[in-house]
Amino acid sequence: MDRNADAPWSKFDPEAYVDLNYRTPLEVDLLIVRLMRDHFARCYAAGLPPSVRGVDVGAGANLYPALAMLPWCEKIVLLEYALPNIEYLERQLAPGGYDKEWDAFWEVLREHPAYQDTDPRSTFGDVVRVERADLLSLDGQRRWDIGTMFFVADSMSECPEEFRKGVRCFLEALNPGAPFAVAFMKESRGYQVGAHRYPAYRVDEKQVWENLEPFTGELEIHDLRHVVRKGHEGMLLALGRRNSAIAAP
Ligand SMILES: C[S@@+](CC[C@H](N)C(=O)[O-])C[C@H]1O[C@@H](n2cnc3c(N)ncnc32)[C@H](O)[C@@H]1O
Repeated sequence: MDRNADAPWSKFDPEAYVDLNYRTPLEVDLLIVRLMRDHFARCYAAGLPPSVRGVDVGAGANLYPALAMLPWCEKIVLLEYALPNIEYLERQLAPGGYDKEWDAFWEVLREHPAYQDTDPRSTFGDVVRVERADLLSLDGQRRWDIGTMFFVADSMSECPEEFRKGVRCFLEALNPGAPFAVAFMKESRGYQVGAHRYPAYRVDEKQVWENLEPFTGELEIHDLRHVVRKGHEGMLLALGRRNSAIAAP
């Protein structure tokens, strides 16, 4: 069984990954962006708390979770483990601004009035920072007021304990009431990026529910039956808010 530490993260090819997944926006990602956007806007409909700090865990070569948090946050941290992905994210923060393929996702976000006063390129450069971190070594301290984690806990290991720990470490890093969005490949049997193969844990809706529910005040799971490649059975999008419970060790 491939554990997280066994996979070739230092050889992850972000451009090949963007080619496969995001260069041409897929209908399912645009749907996810719409659902996440509406969830965040609903969570903050009664008003925005002061100085909201956001996190996207295992950001990899995907900017749309951070873009969805942009109007709400004073700061956003992109936590990532693989060095090539960190370099990719740093390039997106360079003065020229992020790559043009991310504009299609902003177009969907700005259909909502809450996003219309944000200039995405300049705000992204001002607000977003990249840090190297291992999800499985996060220390359980609550730091963030809003968070996203897309295709990470399920797409980094074949090991059930590491899947559960990944979900728990993410949710434990969020403050009470924090809105969150977490996405999973459903029943994934691993995935190829360029010349390398990466492990996955075969997760279904029941497991997502069981692992997230103890940490959440509100939770809804969208079963998106879009298949984007061989070896999985759709995607699961969990939208919710963190409760105030401290989980048992
Ligand atoms: C399938 S990719 C998902 C990337 C991106 N979030 C997306 O939505 O496309 C899995 C990501 O998890 C990252 N990752 C793997 N192990 C990790 C760990 N222990 N801590 C943090 N990130 C990790 C990988 O480097 C990669 O960026």
